Amino acid sequence: MLRQAGEQLLEQRHTNVVLVAAVQLSRLPLNPFRRKAERAIAQAYMLYQQAKMLAKLSHDILNFINPQTLAIEELAQRCGPVSADQKKHLKTLWKQKDLIEESIRDLLELERLVELRMEGKWRMRGYHLGELAQASIAAYEAKAKGRGVVLEAALSPCPDGIGDPRSIRRIIDNLVINALKFTPTGGRILVQVQPAGANLRLTVIDTGVGIPAEDLPRIFDQFYQGSNHPGLVQGTGIGLSNVKEFVNLHKGSLRVDSELEHGTTFVIELPSMSRVQEFDAAMVDPETLAGKAA
Ligand SMILES: Nc1ncnc2c1ncn2[C@@H]1O[C@H](COP(=O)(O)OP(=O)(O)OP(=O)(O)O)[C@@H](O)[C@H]1O
Ligand SMILES: [Mg+2]
Repeated sequence: MLRQAGEQLLEQRHTNVVLVAAVQLSRLPLNPFRRKAERAIAQAYMLYQQAKMLAKLSHDILNFINPQTLAIEELAQRCGPVSADQKKHLKTLWKQKDLIEESIRDLLELERLVELRMEGKWRMRGYHLGELAQASIAAYEAKAKGRGVVLEAALSPCPDGIGDPRSIRRIIDNLVINALKFTPTGGRILVQVQPAGANLRLTVIDTGVGIPAEDLPRIFDQFYQGSNHPGLVQGTGIGLSNVKEFVNLHKGSLRVDSELEHGTTFVIELPSMSRVQEFDAAMVDPETLAGKAA
């Protein structure tokens, strides 16, 4: 069945790597290696279908959350005076909605990457790291202000980066959201962008609660949450594992320094356009490549 689907897709010039592999494999003589590889391919195809289904589900959940945002806003602003107790409950509702929304966004991003890579459509292009950082700060400024935290930027002029701007934006968002989550009122968060040889350096510094030394080696693991959570454990522990995944895809590097009660600094290096040759040409947007040749 896989082979039939694959032959049809090939005729339509589809590039789904799993189906293409299934067709190529089916042309080999039948032997134990082929049987084993066919089982692996069938499994990969199933995972791909699951990722597509999850992506659809995540979209639906996001669409379901949007009207809730409006309803909470309406309740807070227009339903007459609210008591201190009601205000507290509305705040909790809003916080939980934000957390669900962010987790779903992370899930969507991972599923999008699985789809793009499976379909051979993953393309890197030129982008401005400073602009993405600026957009991220603009998105979280109000939240920082509401919590009495200063969120500021120091953006030095940089050459273009080469990468997937949507994933890079998720990297910045995740670091800023974490910094906000772990920095109490009166604290500061600084987002820095600067050139670093053939790389671009993104640094997010906060004056928050810090990360205990025993947690540091594990914070990039999927679903790992440290012991420094104030009260209720918030989130799911996928933010930093996504950051690591995105950084690896870009052949970048990441580092974290932290001191309890003083704050945390994340340093991420991502390739500038001068490293474009390090990436498979099929994975780079043709216009970006043409621009490079010109
Ligand atoms: N800026 C920070 N300051 C202090 N601790 C942090 C900071 N960033 C991350 N951590 C620690 O690392 C853990 C893992 O972070 P990660 O972003 O993966 O998960 P999360 O924020 O708990 O949940 P999610 O991102 O899924 O909402 C956090 O639970 C926290 O213990
Ligand atoms: Mg997080």
